[in-house]
Amino acid sequence: MIFRILSILSLLISLSSANIVFDYCVGDLSLPPGPTGYSCKDPTTVTVDDFVYSGLRDAGNTANIFKFGANTAYAPQFPGLNGMGISMVRADLGVGGVVPLHSHRVAELAILIEGTLIAGFVDTNNTAYYKTLTKGDMMIFPPTLFHFQANIGSTPALAYVSFASENPGNQIFTTGLFRNTLPSELIEKVTLLDLAQVQKLKKIFGGSN
Ligand SMILES: *[C@@H]1O[C@H](CO)[C@@H](O)[C@H](O)[C@H]1NC(C)=O
Repeated sequence: MIFRILSILSLLISLSSANIVFDYCVGDLSLPPGPTGYSCKDPTTVTVDDFVYSGLRDAGNTANIFKFGANTAYAPQFPGLNGMGISMVRADLGVGGVVPLHSHRVAELAILIEGTLIAGFVDTNNTAYYKTLTKGDMMIFPPTLFHFQANIGSTPALAYVSFASENPGNQIFTTGLFRNTLPSELIEKVTLLDLAQVQKLKKIFGGSN
């Protein structure tokens, strides 16, 4: 009985503090991930290159309707992050570009490297917090709240953004609403937007129905 309780306790502890027993757990992308991330790659095959990622050297592609390009360093791109509870994105905004209203599962900490942005979020009390940021400014966006950035300067803007998860998720309000297969009439009903506007945006963002 005691042994049973102990083994249940140790299972609970191992579930709540995954990876504590390892120095690292480089993700093995050949296996499907579970709720705590990827399985660990065989540690005898780990090299320094598993801990280095060069993908953020490159600017994100801003040739899109938002003039915004995100280069992500999440666990699927950078398996060394697996189990570390941290990740980073490079955000490039062309002149007039925006990071459209969106949300993540976890907190986001942004630092502006070049340009001028208005950044902000709306909390669950519908209170808006927004401010003009200049080079060197940081802003924290609390978990799950809708937030955005807009380039209001005359030059491109560059920000780096870190997350309290190696896979923070990203749900963009506009594409979430209009790049899907929900009937336009249903979207009209659940948003109170005009049907014509819904159909127009479905066409722009590649939704159907
Ligand atoms: C919540 O919003 C109302 C206005 O709708 C405001 O009066 C109130 O101060 C807000 N509460 C907090 C804690 O921000």
